[in-house]
Amino acid sequence: MNLNQKQKLLKHQQLNNKEEVETIVDTPNTYGPEDEQLLFFKRAVEAARNGICITNPRMTDNPIVYVNDGFLDFTGYKRDQVLGRNCRFLQRDDRDQAPIESIREALRLEIPITTILRNYRRDGSLFWNELTLSPVHDQSGRLINFVGVQNDISARKDAEKRVSEFYSVISHELRTPLTSINSALSVIADGSAGKANAQIMRMVEIALENSERLVRLISDILDWKKIESGKFKLNKTYTCPEALVDRLITGVKPLSNSAKVQLLKEVQTTAEVYLDIDRTLQILTNLVDNAIKFSAADNVVTIRVELRNADTVRFSVVDQGPGIPKDQLNKLFKVFQQLDSSDRRKTGGTGLGLSISRSLVELHGGQIGVESEVGKGSMFWFEIYSKVESEVN
Ligand SMILES: Cc1cc2nc3c(=O)[nH]c(=O)nc-3n(C[C@H](O)[C@H](O)[C@H](O)COP(=O)(O)O)c2cc1C
Repeated sequence: MNLNQKQKLLKHQQLNNKEEVETIVDTPNTYGPEDEQLLFFKRAVEAARNGICITNPRMTDNPIVYVNDGFLDFTGYKRDQVLGRNCRFLQRDDRDQAPIESIREALRLEIPITTILRNYRRDGSLFWNELTLSPVHDQSGRLINFVGVQNDISARKDAEKRVSEFYSVISHELRTPLTSINSALSVIADGSAGKANAQIMRMVEIALENSERLVRLISDILDWKKIESGKFKLNKTYTCPEALVDRLITGVKPLSNSAKVQLLKEVQTTAEVYLDIDRTLQILTNLVDNAIKFSAADNVVTIRVELRNADTVRFSVVDQGPGIPKDQLNKLFKVFQQLDSSDRRKTGGTGLGLSISRSLVELHGGQIGVESEVGKGSMFWFEIYSKVESEVN
C-alpha cells in the first residue's frame, strides 16, 4: 500500500469504526465512498495488461487524454509521446484497411465496436491489434469520451497462420502421391493390368479401400479448413430436384448395391430450386452413404424432397438402421465426432462429414437436423433457404 492509500485509509478510520475499515481492506470487491471507488477503478485500469486509452471527442481530432501502462508497454511509446494525439498514429501508412472504415462508422454512430487491425509499434514492427471501442455517455446521454481497449494478438495470428500452412502442406503433400497410389491400385483391382491370383486381388482390394479412405479424409480436411477460414464460396444456380436426386443415386448406387440396400426416391415437388448443386450433392451423398453403412441387407433408404413453404426446400434421408440414442444426438454435427470410435473403423467415416454438411447447409442460410429412434431408424434432414421458381405443373 503506498503513502497516499495509507493516508486515505487513516482518514477513513477516523470517520468509521474499525470493523467497517477491515471490510474495505479484506474484500476489495466492495467499495465504499466515492474517493475509494475512484481509487478502486484507477488501480484496476492501471494494473490491466491490455492497453486502455480514453479520448475526448469534444476536442479537435478526438485526442488521447489518458493511457495506461499496458498501452505504453506493448506499443513502445512514452506517455508524453501519445497524449494529445489521435490514435491513428498506430496505423502509420497502412490506412487501407476495412476495419478503419468500420471504426469511423462506429464512432459516428456512437456505438461500440470490436475489430482486428494492423498497427505498428514505435520501432516500426507490426502487431495485430484486437481493439474494442465504446462510447462513454454522461447521465444526460451526452457523449463525453471514448474508451479503447487494445489487445496485442500477434502471437495468436502467427499460430493460426502456421496451423493453416501446416494443414495445406500436409494435405497437398499427401494428396498427390496418394492419388497415384490410388489410380495404380484401381488399375490392378479392375484387372486391366492383367490377372493376379485371388489372394493378391483380395490384398489389393483392402489397399484400395484404405487409400480411398485417406483421399476422402484429406479432401474433407481441405474443405473443412476452407469453410473455417470463411473462404468457401457457393455457386448457386436453379436446378430441378428430381435431376439432382437422380445424379445422387447414380453416385451412391455401387455402395447400395454392394450393401444390398434399396434406394427409394420421393421427390414431391417439380419446382426449380436455387442452390449450389455440387455442394448439395456433397451433403446428400454424405447422408445417404451414412444411411447405407448403418443399414442391414434388404433395408430401404428413402431420399425425400419437399417444399416447406414458398422459399424453403427440405431434403430428408430416412433409414431403417439401428437408430441413435437421444443423449448422442447433439454430438453428431461436431467436428471429429463419431458416436463410438468403433463406428469409424466399421464405416470408414472421417468424423468430418456431418460437420462439413452442417457448415454447407448454414452457408445456404439453412439448417440441418436429425430425428431418430433406437431400433427403428433415423431421419437426417436439411432445409435450404432457396428462391423457388413456381411449380411447373
Ligand atoms: C478510444 C479510441 C481508441 C482507438 N484506438 C486505436 C488503436 O489502438 N489503433 C488504431 O489503429 N486506431 C485506434 N482508434 C481509431 C482512430 O483513432 C481513428 O478513429 C480511426 O483511424 C478512424 O478515423 P480516421 O479515418 O480519422 O483516421 C481509436 C479510436 C478511439 C476513439
